[in-house]
Amino acid sequence: MAGANNAPPKEFSEFILGLTQHCADNGLGFIAKELTTNKVIGAILASDLAETLNKVDTDDKEPSNPIATLITALNNSYFKGETLPNNTYLNIKFVAMDDRFKGKGVVDKLISKCINEAKNKGFKFAQAEATGNVSQHIFKNKLGFEEKAFIKYKEFTLGDEKPFSEITEHEGIKLLIKRI
Ligand SMILES: CC(C)(COP(=O)(O)OP(=O)(O)OC[C@H]1O[C@@H](n2cnc3c(N)ncnc32)[C@H](O)[C@@H]1OP(=O)(O)O)[C@@H](O)C(=O)NCCC(=O)NCCS
Repeated sequence: MAGANNAPPKEFSEFILGLTQHCADNGLGFIAKELTTNKVIGAILASDLAETLNKVDTDDKEPSNPIATLITALNNSYFKGETLPNNTYLNIKFVAMDDRFKGKGVVDKLISKCINEAKNKGFKFAQAEATGNVSQHIFKNKLGFEEKAFIKYKEFTLGDEKPFSEITEHEGIKLLIKRI
């Protein structure tokens, strides 16, 4: 997926840093630390879905970013372009674990912590655009999210291109939602 992103690596890392700050400022970004070393071993970034979906400008003349376009299409197939109320849908944007700590279930706790904090802030649903088999398994089968929309990578087109056709190990992106 990252390879299909138009942004150069420096720009992309600056975007992620800004996003991290934004999620943390809103109390919706969390990290897991190893107690013995105090090192960060996992992270989750989340924010209000209304912030992202409601500002999509369909008249934008800039060249389209394939990932942003895919995610907008996925959400639109369920939300139908409606204006979302604020503070209602928690958008879980990124989840990651240090390789040494993968497979231990830490990520379930990280996601559950984020969802509980969001619930305390008044959010009613948690939403994730899950791009791969592992995250889809975690959200659907382990955390009880329901599949609301699905786009196959080999079928998604942007102009004349199929920017994700080379992804074969994952079938597609899923919009997953859970009432919290
Ligand atoms: C996604 C990620 C955070 C999951 O962390 P993790 O520690 O591996 O997760 P867990 O061990 O709790 O659970 C992994 C589950 O996926 C399953 N799994 C592993 N490989 C799988 C595959 N190829 N297909 C389907 N399920 C798979 C495991 O069996 C396990 O499920 P189980 O507990 O029912 O057996 C981690 O793999 C990661 O950092 N990936 C890179 C970043 C990323 O892709 N993030 C998601 C998109 S934002």
